Amino acid sequence: MLEIKDLTVKVDDKIILNNFNITINDGEIHVLMGPNGTGKSTICKAIFNHPDYIIEGSIKYNGTELTKLDVASIGKLGLFLLAQNPVEIPGITNAELIRSALSEKENKPIDIFKFNKKLNEVCEIINLPKSFVHRDINFNMSGGEKKKNELLSLFMLEPKFIILDEIDSGLDIDALKEVGNALNKYYEMEHPSILIVTHHQAILEYFKDYQVSILQDGHITKSGTSDLAKEIEKHGFKANVINGSKNDE
Ligand SMILES: Nc1ncnc2c1ncn2[C@@H]1O[C@H](COP(=O)(O)OP(=O)(O)OP(=O)(O)O)[C@@H](O)[C@H]1O
Ligand SMILES: [Mg+2]
Repeated sequence: MLEIKDLTVKVDDKIILNNFNITINDGEIHVLMGPNGTGKSTICKAIFNHPDYIIEGSIKYNGTELTKLDVASIGKLGLFLLAQNPVEIPGITNAELIRSALSEKENKPIDIFKFNKKLNEVCEIINLPKSFVHRDINFNMSGGEKKKNELLSLFMLEPKFIILDEIDSGLDIDALKEVGNALNKYYEMEHPSILIVTHHQAILEYFKDYQVSILQDGHITKSGTSDLAKEIEKHGFKANVINGSKNDE
């Protein structure tokens, strides 16, 4: 379970999040929506104790305080961030990074035969060309390719808490379907918690039950279920939905 309490996140003197609270239970899918620039990516990165941010308050994962840990230790606890703009790392291939992360996580050397077999299986599931396994991490990949490439690591590392920051942005219609189906399959297999940041309804069609929270003015201003996401898609944030008095057509 992830519990964020009384969180303030600042960059220099600018307050991005304040009085931010959220609880995400084991196996829960939680959708975070909100206008551009309200701090959705900031909260995703703050969970990983990103060094850009001054963080006050508490972020606990299964009782462990994350604000005191570094990113590698947080990953080892089973959290995974698929970033809005995945970073390019020239000089290290996907296979190299995933293999070393796996052996770190499992505290033992990796059986290379099983590892390669699983890489091939995952490429099939997400419809990623097998040649990507030996490409440098996200390097010279298109926006949509980067998102799928990140899914390769996700499926291989089997995280228990997944943060998807606009995974749907930059995906074409077919890729969105492949990614949606792959994530649904992962959810059915592993029952992780998932925090989904999105501006659109389409990716949510791949999930049955989910909570929705709206982020504005640095904190959650409204919560609900799938109906709230549909409401936002239909009327937008400005249509007074947040204040509970939407403008009807
Ligand atoms: N490292 C940083 N340095 C300076 N300002 C930052 C930093 N990170 C975020 N901000 C600012 O904080 C605000 C929130 O940014 P954030 O990326 O979290 O928005 P967002 O809700 O994810 O928006 P979008 O929907 O466009 O992705 C923005 O005004 C942004 O410019
Ligand atoms: Mg963002």
